[in-house]
Amino acid sequence: MTRITLSINQLDRDVEIAAERSLLSVLREELDLTGTKYGCGDGKCGACTVLVDGNPVQACSVAAAEVAGKRITTVEGLAAAGRLDAVQAAFVATSALQCGYCTPGMIMTATALLAANSDPSEAEIMHALQDNICRCGAQPRIVAAVRQAAKWLRDGAWPDYAAAPAGPVAPLSPDRFEDGLVVAYPDPDVAAATFGDDAPPPDRRALTQVGPLVHIAEDGAIRVYVGKAEVGQNMRASVAQLVAEELRVAPGQIEVIAADTGRDPYDVGTFGSRTTPITGPQVLRAGAAMRGLLVDLAAAGWAVDAADLSVLDGQVVHAPSGRVVSFGELARDRQITRIADPDQPVTPPAEWTVAGRPVRKPNGAAFVTGSHRFAADMALPGMLAGKVLRPPAFRATLESLDADAAGQLPGVTVVREGNFVGVVAPDELAATRAIDALRARWQTELQVSSPELFDYLKTTALERESLRDPELTPADGWRGPLFTVTGDPDKAMAGAAQQMAETYTVDYIAHAPLEPRAALAVWEGELLTVWTGSQRPFGVQAELAAFFGIDLANVRVIVPETGAGYGGKHAGDAAIEAARLARAVGRPVKIVWTRQEEFTWAYFRPAGLIELASAADEAGNLSVLDMTNYNSGAAGIESRYTIPNQRITFLPAEPPLRQGAYRALATTANHFARESHIDGWAHRLGEDPLAFRLRHIDDERLRAVFVAAAVTFGWESRTPAAHHGFGIAGGTDKGSYVAACVEVAVDPDSGALTVLHVVEAFECGAIINPDNVQAQVEGAIIQGLGGALFERVEFANGRILNPGFDGYRVPRFLDLPRIETVLLDRRDLPSVGAGETPIAAIAPALANAIFHATGRRLRAMPLAPDGRVSI
Ligand code: FES
Ligand code: FES
Repeated sequence: MTRITLSINQLDRDVEIAAERSLLSVLREELDLTGTKYGCGDGKCGACTVLVDGNPVQACSVAAAEVAGKRITTVEGLAAAGRLDAVQAAFVATSALQCGYCTPGMIMTATALLAANSDPSEAEIMHALQDNICRCGAQPRIVAAVRQAAKWLRDGAWPDYAAAPAGPVAPLSPDRFEDGLVVAYPDPDVAAATFGDDAPPPDRRALTQVGPLVHIAEDGAIRVYVGKAEVGQNMRASVAQLVAEELRVAPGQIEVIAADTGRDPYDVGTFGSRTTPITGPQVLRAGAAMRGLLVDLAAAGWAVDAADLSVLDGQVVHAPSGRVVSFGELARDRQITRIADPDQPVTPPAEWTVAGRPVRKPNGAAFVTGSHRFAADMALPGMLAGKVLRPPAFRATLESLDADAAGQLPGVTVVREGNFVGVVAPDELAATRAIDALRARWQTELQVSSPELFDYLKTTALERESLRDPELTPADGWRGPLFTVTGDPDKAMAGAAQQMAETYTVDYIAHAPLEPRAALAVWEGELLTVWTGSQRPFGVQAELAAFFGIDLANVRVIVPETGAGYGGKHAGDAAIEAARLARAVGRPVKIVWTRQEEFTWAYFRPAGLIELASAADEAGNLSVLDMTNYNSGAAGIESRYTIPNQRITFLPAEPPLRQGAYRALATTANHFARESHIDGWAHRLGEDPLAFRLRHIDDERLRAVFVAAAVTFGWESRTPAAHHGFGIAGGTDKGSYVAACVEVAVDPDSGALTVLHVVEAFECGAIINPDNVQAQVEGAIIQGLGGALFERVEFANGRILNPGFDGYRVPRFLDLPRIETVLLDRRDLPSVGAGETPIAAIAPALANAIFHATGRRLRAMPLAPDGRVSI
């Protein structure tokens, strides 16, 4: 151990540490400066960037002892006198954050850049930030934020934003709703999940067993309780907007209490773009019913006709007499609850004045100052760091374990429960050393490797299907096949003028959220509390209760706003691991997965093989589409093209890797194959790909996004330069519509691919928060670029071969094209989600553009793993 003094944010801090402890570990674990984030631990993501003597340094890659005596600045040191600095303010003002996990590192790198260059160009900003990863795809806004900050710094003035106070660590007590006014929406899912088939009427249940709630307290505070998780999709803003719309207040007056099983009504989870179409109408109705209650109370109090009252700015107004009463006054000394009518009328979108406008992330200041605590940032007195011994390969079983050396390390306890082996130690480095000191022998088995993947998927899918009782259907619990037939595909194929058959493949990819899985667990007797990053707080609660054989009521799961998920944070693995270790040692235990664990032991987006056979008649009209997807999924598989004879099949396989949900599920894979195939027909028939599509689309909403993307891109008016190509693709899923146009350039000698320009049009009904929908579309485009071009999980015999950001390439700043989004706001249609479908068009549009540039039809995703196209 060595004692050093670190000068951090202009304060001297003495610490006694092991000499090799990284600066990151000391900042986070010894000094509680958790604004500096762990993302990879090996210098590949920039999440841990701090300034040392003004220069950006990755704190994971430097020993704390090396920087003793130097000037260290962390994100906590930027705001002064309770006011955000220019860079922080610019990130808030431009909404340059989604989940916010990358934000402190971005801000520190940008701060160093602006100190050296007061007026950087976009290219200079992108070069400076190239080592910082944002998995949410906020890069265009981050560049805009840095340019805005540069201008403000040159001007010497920027808007006054208050710095955010530190967030709570201890759990808040469940609200008892003993004062004021409450309206609950009776959500049938809550009733079914809580009571099964035997639910009592809503007015005889505890309020959080009814559904989403709106509460107005005696002090006028308005709180909305929903079980949703915030994972960067900015649902807090849209939920607040919808309730604010009905209560005729500003969204900032509403606090959303979310993702806490101890405080919120049950929710199945934050996935499937469900928040907008399902929770949205519920909170709207609860808000409208609350407005009705407020009006009733005021009318009764004044003995006036309710029709003469209006609600405005947190007050009920009686215009004829000029009387006003605030929401707080109406709530005072009252305890009234109402169950909203499921048919409660709400304000039509065409009349919205609060919803339909851009609203920023409500608590953005907490992310730019580092005061927001993600799950990995939580700490409790007496807490220990936990680690789990991982097998060398999937499906390995533990044959023997020698834990003597590990158990003798200071402060270390080894926990073994069957095949599960973990350690706890005073800090993460000590826990890692203890894991390294364990001597384990494993029995491994031969497993499928990447080169055999697609044959394996098809073979096992067909085997599985051959064993199926033909009477079994999905309604019987049989997972697959999905099988729909229109017309007579076989007969039409036999008599067709022209035919085409192709096979497409889609590799396994990883979600790679910048915040790895993490959980802090504490037992108090039989009561278990866990903080974890998850999209399914109540799902994790159920997993924990089942694992430990305890009542749901004894498990509380609190999900702080999470460093994103993209469909990857459904399971409670880290929560269970932390709770097992905490129970074994009788102390709070925190587990933070390493980047390598995240890339290995999480689940993956399913790989798939997709076969298409199709035909056209003599007039060039598509007459047959026969499409079979092996393993990757059925989402988005149904074609919207007017083709009279279709057979659509999905056959699940025996997956060699753990697989699960991913943003938009298989919609991307199915659109990649189908939209590439359709493009092939257009080229074969010598017809413009847009015109060919429009000739086969009746759906007006789908036609509208294709036309909108094409008009903005200049599809008909522009001609690509030599070795450039244009591509178009589109589709629909979960009730929303997308189309993208892309321009690429391919170097004729090296095959180097450059994506120059993306225009994407998107329509999701009535738009609640246009700024956020635009951010989701931009993020989906950028995340979609990664899966389309580079991302691929490579594996051999049960081992992941590229479990880090060096071997697994994700989009970085210099990969970005110029991005334009076109949002079609349909106030005449119900709102649906925007987080997923926008990812589906980018891969096929890219593949089609590459074909246009090179004449090569690429049928395997990723299209250019090393940044080159084989030509
Ligand atoms: S660069 Fe340090 S955590 Fe990734
Ligand atoms: S906002 Fe950048 S990783 Fe989420």
